[in-house]
Amino acid sequence: MIQINSVASYLPKKIVTNDDLSKTLDTSHEWIYTRTGISSRHIAADDEFASDLALNAAKTALKKSNLDPKDLDAIIVTTITSDRRFPSVACKVQGKLGANKAFALDVNAACAGFIYGLAVADSMMKSMNLRNVLLIGSETLTKFVDWTDRSTCVLFGDGAGAFVLQNSTDNSRGIIATKLYSNGHEEKYNYLLAHSSLQKVDKNYVTMVGRSVFKYAIEYMAMSMTEILEENNMSIDDIDWIIPHQANKRILESMCKMKNFPIEKVIITTDTHANTSSASIPLALDDAITNRTVKKGDTLLFTALGAGLTWGSAIVRL
Ligand code: COA
Repeated sequence: MIQINSVASYLPKKIVTNDDLSKTLDTSHEWIYTRTGISSRHIAADDEFASDLALNAAKTALKKSNLDPKDLDAIIVTTITSDRRFPSVACKVQGKLGANKAFALDVNAACAGFIYGLAVADSMMKSMNLRNVLLIGSETLTKFVDWTDRSTCVLFGDGAGAFVLQNSTDNSRGIIATKLYSNGHEEKYNYLLAHSSLQKVDKNYVTMVGRSVFKYAIEYMAMSMTEILEENNMSIDDIDWIIPHQANKRILESMCKMKNFPIEKVIITTDTHANTSSASIPLALDDAITNRTVKKGDTLLFTALGAGLTWGSAIVRL
C-alpha cells in the first residue's frame, strides 16, 4: 500500500487578525468569526512565493522521514497560486532541494487539489513502482485577493503542507481509497483570471459567489464522503477523524448535520489558518498530529471541494 510516512507544514511568519482587518475594512471580528470560524490567518511576505512555502514544508517532511532529497522518485505539488505561469512549482522545489532523481509536476484542482494530488500520487506510485514521493499542497491566495472586498479577503490565508509517501509491502496502513468528481458547469461561482504570483493582471482577483459555493460545498462533500464509505463497505463508525478542506467552520457543521456525522470527529483549523486552499488538509493533519489528537494507526477521511467545481474524498489509515 502507499503509506504516509511523514507529515509536515509551514506557515508564513506574518499573522493578521480579524481586528487588524477591521482597521481598514468595514468589517468586525464578530461578523467574520460567527460566519466562518476564522480569527486570524498567516500571510506570505511580498517576496515569499508558493515554491518557498513548499520548500520549507518539504525539508521538514524529509527530515522527519530521515530521507535525503536524492531518495525521491517524484515531487507533486498541488497549487493554484504558482510563482509563475510556468515552470511548475514542483520543478522549482525539485531544483532547490537537489532531488536529482525525481520528476516533478503540479496538480491544479483548486481547493480540492490535495485529494486530487493524493489520488495522482497513489496511482502513479503503484503503476510506475515509485518508492518515495513528496506530495505538497502550497498556496498563497492572499496575493490574489482584493483587499478592499470584505466579502472575499477575510476568508483566505497562506501556507503549505507536505506528505512523504512510501510504497510498502505492509498492507495494514496506507491509502485505502480515493474518489474524485468535477462539474465544469459550475465554473462561474469561483474563479481567478490572474497570471501568476510574480506578474498579476491589474484587478484580477479571486471572484466568488459565496452563498452558492457554501451550498455546493456542504452537499457535494457530504455526498462524496457517503459514496466512498459505501463503496469500501465502511461506515462513519470505522473513521477516527474527518479531515476536511478548511474553508468555513459553518460548512463543516452543516455537512455533518446533513449526514448525521459526529462533529467531534472533525479536525477544524479554520480559527488560525483560514482557507489555505489545497494546503489546508495537510496543514490540518500536521496540526492534529503535533497536538497529539491524531495518532499512527488512526483511520482518516479526507474531503474537499474547490473551484471547477472539483471535489472528492479519500480514506487513509495513518
Ligand atoms: N464584514 C461585514 N459584512 C460583510 C462582510 C464582512 N467581511 N462580507 C460581507 N458582508 C455583508 C454583505 O455585504 C451583506 O450585506 P447586505 O445584506 O447589506 O448586502 C451581508 O454581509 C451578508 O452577506 P452574505 O454574502 O449573504 O453573507 P453570508 O452569510 O452568505 O456569508 C460568506 C458570506 C462568504 C462567509 C459565506 O457565503 C461563505 O463562507 N461562503 C463559502 C465561501 C468559501 O468557503 N469559498 C471557498 C470554498 S473552497
